[in-house]
Amino acid sequence: MDISILAIESSCDETSASVIHNGKILNNIIASQSIHQNYGGVVPELASRAHQQNIIPVIDQALKDANIVKSSLNAVAFTQGPGLLGALLVGASFAKAFAMGLNIPLITINHMQAHILAHFIDDPKPEFPFLCLTVSGGHTQIVQVNDYLEMEVLGETLDDAAGEAFDKSAKLLGLPYPGGPLIDQYAAKGNPKAFSFPGTNTPGLNYSFSGIKTAIMYFLRDRKKEDPEFIKNNMNDICASVQAKLVEMLMIKLKKASKLTGIREIAIAGGVSANIGLRERLQQEAERLQWKTYVPEFEYCGDNAAMIAIAAHYKYLAGIFAEYTSVPEPRMKL
Ligand code: KG4
Ligand code: ZN
Repeated sequence: MDISILAIESSCDETSASVIHNGKILNNIIASQSIHQNYGGVVPELASRAHQQNIIPVIDQALKDANIVKSSLNAVAFTQGPGLLGALLVGASFAKAFAMGLNIPLITINHMQAHILAHFIDDPKPEFPFLCLTVSGGHTQIVQVNDYLEMEVLGETLDDAAGEAFDKSAKLLGLPYPGGPLIDQYAAKGNPKAFSFPGTNTPGLNYSFSGIKTAIMYFLRDRKKEDPEFIKNNMNDICASVQAKLVEMLMIKLKKASKLTGIREIAIAGGVSANIGLRERLQQEAERLQWKTYVPEFEYCGDNAAMIAIAAHYKYLAGIFAEYTSVPEPRMKL
């Protein structure tokens, strides 16, 4: 039987829709919200309003592009959590109404699980079990993935997420939101050994990024006392050094997880997996430790509905459907 699913993502500041047909992604329409740049971070209420404006055009375009009529859809999927409540509500309400109107099943998706399952959109696909370092604006997790829908969190951040650490460092440097991609760009032209920052020692496989943020803050304060133009004159080197430190912190625990589990199939996912410094470092470690690594296409690193669609495909195959009364779960766990 043919399976066509419409998937919707609205957990943060991207409104996205995707159609998947028999496990193949037909499109991935994303409307980003630039309004948050004026505020230095995502403003939840503004995100909800923008989702409301964007959701119909985005879904219309996804269906038109896929050349699919509503009546031939087999299910509708949406991000149930984690995310911002008001933002999630827009996608959830739309998906529920749509599924009820068409009298087809509803599928709820965990956003973090979807980031990981994005690895099953294209080849090469990881083999089970594999480890996935999921690094986004809201989460940092090392996950052991035993099957499509069977995942176990081995370690996670105790405070800030890796993306948050990038964004907050960027803010200290006077860069606009989201600063992660900008740090990446400046870092490409800088010396990663120019400056060093102290790391934090967290137990087991957990992370902590709040200390490094404070260390960077004091470092910049002291240097600016000596040279008010310090940031401007050293932007590339500062970004390269900050990035190298954050990447090193991410890699230490990932290597530890691989050693502890004996798993050498290693993937990265989430917004920060677009980071060039992290990708390069992963490649170097892969050669040294004989890892087989998996890095998502840039299109599937940040928030997108294609990852929701592929997750929905596997849930559909497993026969896991949700009630029409399902509600968003902003703090949903993996
Ligand atoms: O997964 P994502 O799009 O949204 C969440 O689920 O949070 O991740 C967004 C995060 C932001 O913190 C952003 O700055 C970061 O990913 N990010 C990057 C890069 N591209 C996006 N951080 C470092 N380097 C990048 N190239
Ligand atoms: Zn995300």
